[in-house]
Amino acid sequence: MNINTLTVIDNRTDATYTLPIENGAIRTMDLRQMKTSPDDFGLMGYDPAFMNTASCKSAITFIDGDKGILRYRGYPIEELAEHCSFLEVAYLLLHGELPNKTENEEWTRQITYHTMLHESIKKFMDGFAYDAHPMGILVATVGALSTFYPDARNIHDEASRRTQIYRLVAKMPTLAAFAYRHSRGLPYAYPDNDLTYTQNFLNMLFKMTEVKYRPEPALARALDVLFILHADHEQNASANVMRAVGSAHTDPYLSTAGAAAALAGPLHGGANEAVLRMLDQIGKKENIPDYIKGVKEGKYKLMGFGHRVYKNYDPRAQIIKNTAEQVFQVTGRNPKLDMALELEKIALNDDYFVKRKLYPNVDFYSGIIYQAMGFNPQMFTVLFAIPRTAGWLAQWQEMLQDGEQKISRPRQIYVGYGMRQVEQPEPGTKAKAA
Ligand code: CMC
Repeated sequence: MNINTLTVIDNRTDATYTLPIENGAIRTMDLRQMKTSPDDFGLMGYDPAFMNTASCKSAITFIDGDKGILRYRGYPIEELAEHCSFLEVAYLLLHGELPNKTENEEWTRQITYHTMLHESIKKFMDGFAYDAHPMGILVATVGALSTFYPDARNIHDEASRRTQIYRLVAKMPTLAAFAYRHSRGLPYAYPDNDLTYTQNFLNMLFKMTEVKYRPEPALARALDVLFILHADHEQNASANVMRAVGSAHTDPYLSTAGAAAALAGPLHGGANEAVLRMLDQIGKKENIPDYIKGVKEGKYKLMGFGHRVYKNYDPRAQIIKNTAEQVFQVTGRNPKLDMALELEKIALNDDYFVKRKLYPNVDFYSGIIYQAMGFNPQMFTVLFAIPRTAGWLAQWQEMLQDGEQKISRPRQIYVGYGMRQVEQPEPGTKAKAA
């Protein structure tokens, strides 16, 4: 007997089925043959929130949540963070290999060349209220790019896809910086093509009246590392949206807007902003035990803790902790770090968190660094969306090239009313439901 099979006995019919097991999974479509009668639809799988269902095969990112391992295209995240720039990592995610010197130069040239925005995007941004959340502005404006690039609809044309990838990776920092400047009432600062990707982003955010903005190299490098850590994370909520929207053959700007909208939620990328608000709410170290008590009583969540996949320390959180020290040498120490460290110490020794395998995730420390670098909490999720765009695009491209993928369309289990009829109205009165 082939041991890579699963034998199932359907007790409703006594029928026996042998299902192949491939890559540690059965195909739920193989369940469909299990019927109680010829007109029975066949057995389905029920898995709300995809707790145990793989929606695709992917060669981009590997996570072992129990061991705390994260790799992009086989490379450990720790090595990429130490030796590579964000643009090299973005290239790796999108192309499968790190770029050689010539590839890197061409990739960097293309990204630098596409950083400008159409002037009408500025007018579009001007329409937002002065206190509009920059994440809302980003979602709207990245979607609006679709109207400027109708060629993006040629999703099956490789050359067109490549151009849209250049544009999206290049323009996200510009959109993000403009959203920030708008919320501050500051004039927009244009890209400076002499600078690296993250240096230029700092330039567009913080340039004031100086002729040439000179970013602090240590901060630009810290941002590069943070961007590398956030670039992809396999089938998370926003990547799943990117694939689902893209599976309808929607163009990549609109698909990215959908993915960014998913990222905005406090359970996903919005958690970094929520962590800062939580630390503000706790106020001082002495209040931590009371706060933990509230978490255990179910009054609130410990933001920045827990993960669907990691049941061990998130390896990104460890790298961020080290990066924090380098940033603080330039900016001075953010006092919130000490509170976060204390919170972590108490939580990791508490039975509630130990039993549930709740550890700090990527968002626990990132906000503290961003705040020290001069960002306000509203910008934190925007800072997540910029690098994650490379991951979304890699997921989108892989989905389009996967012959097994079709429009994403889950089944449901209908639990509503059976057939019923609208009560016939009396002449001269309105119809009403029975
Ligand atoms: N604080 C307190 N309890 C928690 C937390 C938390 N942060 N996270 C999970 N739990 C508890 C949860 O109440 C449940 O307890 P019980 O078994 O008694 O009902 C148990 O742990 C399992 O949690 P779950 O909700 O079934 O886990 P999930 O996989 O559905 O949720 C999560 C994962 C990330 C949404 C969740 O841990 C959470 O809400 N964390 C806080 C928000 C956060 O930090 N999000 C950032 C995630 S990392 C970056 C990203 O992917 O965007």
